[in-house]
Amino acid sequence: MSSTLIHHIGELVTNDPQRGGLLGIVEDAALVVEGGTVAWVGAAADAPPADEAYDAGGRAVLPGFVDSHSHLVFAGDRAAEFAARMAGESYAAGGIRTTVAATREATDEQLTSHVARLVQEMHRQGTTTLEIKSGYGLTTRDEARSLAIARQFTDETTFLGAHVVPEGTDPAAYVELVTGSMLEAALPHARWIDAFCERGAFDGDQARAVLEAGRTAGLRGRLHANQLGPGPGVRLAAELGLLAVDHCTYLEDADVDALRDSGTIATLLPGVEFSTRQPYPDARRLLDAGVRVALASDCNPGSCFTSSIPLCIALAVREMGMTPAEAVHAVTQRGAEALGRDDVGALVPGHRADLVLLDAPTHVHLAYRPGVPLVAGVWLAGRPT
Ligand code: NIG
Ligand code: FE
Repeated sequence: MSSTLIHHIGELVTNDPQRGGLLGIVEDAALVVEGGTVAWVGAAADAPPADEAYDAGGRAVLPGFVDSHSHLVFAGDRAAEFAARMAGESYAAGGIRTTVAATREATDEQLTSHVARLVQEMHRQGTTTLEIKSGYGLTTRDEARSLAIARQFTDETTFLGAHVVPEGTDPAAYVELVTGSMLEAALPHARWIDAFCERGAFDGDQARAVLEAGRTAGLRGRLHANQLGPGPGVRLAAELGLLAVDHCTYLEDADVDALRDSGTIATLLPGVEFSTRQPYPDARRLLDAGVRVALASDCNPGSCFTSSIPLCIALAVREMGMTPAEAVHAVTQRGAEALGRDDVGALVPGHRADLVLLDAPTHVHLAYRPGVPLVAGVWLAGRPT
């Protein structure tokens, strides 16, 4: 097995708690990759010999970003809806149905090549692990094929049949379908189950029924909650012991307490508030309460059509009270935790050698230089891409 030494790293973010500081930073660092995983990390001066060498040119090197929330399987776009919002309209869950109609009409090939394009776009911006949801099919056939397409790109696939109730369908009958034959058809292609617990989508009881049916069938739960207003979702996620609950924009003190006590990760999605002109979630309040916070893109055609984790970092720092270090931690280590992964999100021996090289000396530049394409290179499992 051949090894590669990456040397001349100006700043290496390891996320190794044993190295001190939130990010476990090593300056003037080197890293050895072998067989797709990290074999050694430390000061360049102590680096062991390797078969090949790669000069990082003084750049900062970080773990590849882990985007734990995206909706990439869809057709069409909603640029006109976005423009209307920027002219004063407000975001509503019902817009999802526009995308559902377009997605049902698209062929498998069209959907697959569209997902491929978006995954490539994410990858160029440093994302090396991602989750993809269904949720724009809303029939048994269209949900199953959405998941089968998503599976071609990631193992982290999420069944979101409970996105909205399709036009002209009785809500109770739809929940029965989602928890019955649609769930069965989704099972071979999904690892997770999710629901949109919000006014205009599913209430707490319906979301609970969906998550419990998923759990019985062997899927792990995650939840969209408290995006458009206060509601029962965050407390439900905590009560069910979900690994992560996403959005968390409108929180009461009891929600924050529930997250702290359950250990459920709050995944914040700042691109959504940017694109809907809603107030940003208060990351500072959550972090100060001892809640684990992850950040993700939520890339989707309605509430947030960005695939950019660097943008999310910049927004979280500027608008949500996070430090640059906290934001970087939230898109790496915390993103991995939100997917229950212990092989990505950090650069320590044994983890996958997924890395981002920045055209910048430190991670701070990701927030300090918003909108600038700083990702100069991405390595996947020990290989430059
Ligand atoms: O995460 N909140 C629900 N689902 C997506 C938006 C979907 C859409 O508007 O198409 C979200 O924001
Ligand atoms: Fe979402």
